Amino acid sequence: MIYFDNAATTCMKPPEVAVAVARAIDSFGGVGRGVHEASLDAGMTVFSARQRIANLFGYPNPKQLSFAYNATEALNIAICGLLEPGDHTVTTAASHNSVLRPLFRAQDSGLAEVTIVPIGPDGSIDYDEFEAAFRPNTRLAAVTHASNLTGDVYDIARMAEIAHAHGAFLVVDAAQTAGIVDIDMTSDNLDVVCFTGHKSLYGPQGTGGLCVREGIDIKPFKVGGSGTHSYDREHPSFMPERLEAGTLNAHGVAGLLAGVTYITDKGVDVIRAETQALASRFENGVREIGNVKLYGGGGMDRTGIITLNIGDFDSALVADLLNAEFGICTRAGAHCAPLMHEALGTDQQGAVRFSFSHFNTEEQVDAGIAAITEIAKELS
Ligand code: ALA
Repeated sequence: MIYFDNAATTCMKPPEVAVAVARAIDSFGGVGRGVHEASLDAGMTVFSARQRIANLFGYPNPKQLSFAYNATEALNIAICGLLEPGDHTVTTAASHNSVLRPLFRAQDSGLAEVTIVPIGPDGSIDYDEFEAAFRPNTRLAAVTHASNLTGDVYDIARMAEIAHAHGAFLVVDAAQTAGIVDIDMTSDNLDVVCFTGHKSLYGPQGTGGLCVREGIDIKPFKVGGSGTHSYDREHPSFMPERLEAGTLNAHGVAGLLAGVTYITDKGVDVIRAETQALASRFENGVREIGNVKLYGGGGMDRTGIITLNIGDFDSALVADLLNAEFGICTRAGAHCAPLMHEALGTDQQGAVRFSFSHFNTEEQVDAGIAAITEIAKELS
């Protein structure tokens, strides 16, 4: 198997991730639920993970980092927990359904209005148009840092500046960038960064969270057991417990900590450069194949994603052939990014996404190029 579906879930993890999960499964108690060694061990690991991840995002206070199940849950917590009746919100057509659906639900229930800033056919955004979307009652802009369809990276520092100039918060969906693109909440003035563990942070599925700038009070999405203040009617109001309820997935967080430690030891810049080199090799290899159409990349920085179609053939057919004939794993279809597909003109056909990891090799990339060459021939 050749795995090029890392934007969905990274499958090749640093080996220490599985080791950490296995150790945690056999030794952890509940975080904050006991004074015995098993509970304290879990608590120390989770606290170290808060420190490492907040540090990765350039934020000095690890207590502002709450864990969640994935980026979707973190985005629901942030968006639903910030909105008040009568608010207006801004997003872009590059957003994933993890942003769009909470906003559409808020709109459909009459809670808040949504303005969607268009994306150009080359994947780019017009920042003047983004600014023009703000109104006096705009509470927040929820934006993706990078498109999960094209890998195009958007300028979140600029979006934060615009949002703040209009008295709004910037909520960033970092699902596609955490661990592979530098994120600095302090220098970029970001308010909330939502992340998932199972993609480029190399953690297990079921891990993720959000880092919240101090002073921003998000209403808890769920309340319940917190391990502290148990006689209070209300859930604790302080971070990180404010946004966490019930026993944490400390087993998963232990793996996530190992993944993030690997990243910080190696360096985000190194991982990004290695991944982009593989993506560029692939892009250069398939660019000249007759009938191959490439998407995105309109002058922007990118993650490790190259997305294509062959003629007008259904993207699912191409992904099936890649899998069945060449053992190559990609993702086809809509990628939970309906408006981005409309922007690129691929809403009927979908698109075949190759998402690379720095654990991939040049030989694997060359096998991918050869496979696309063959399939394009077969289908012509
Ligand atoms: N959002 C993930 C993807 O883009 C699952 O594949």
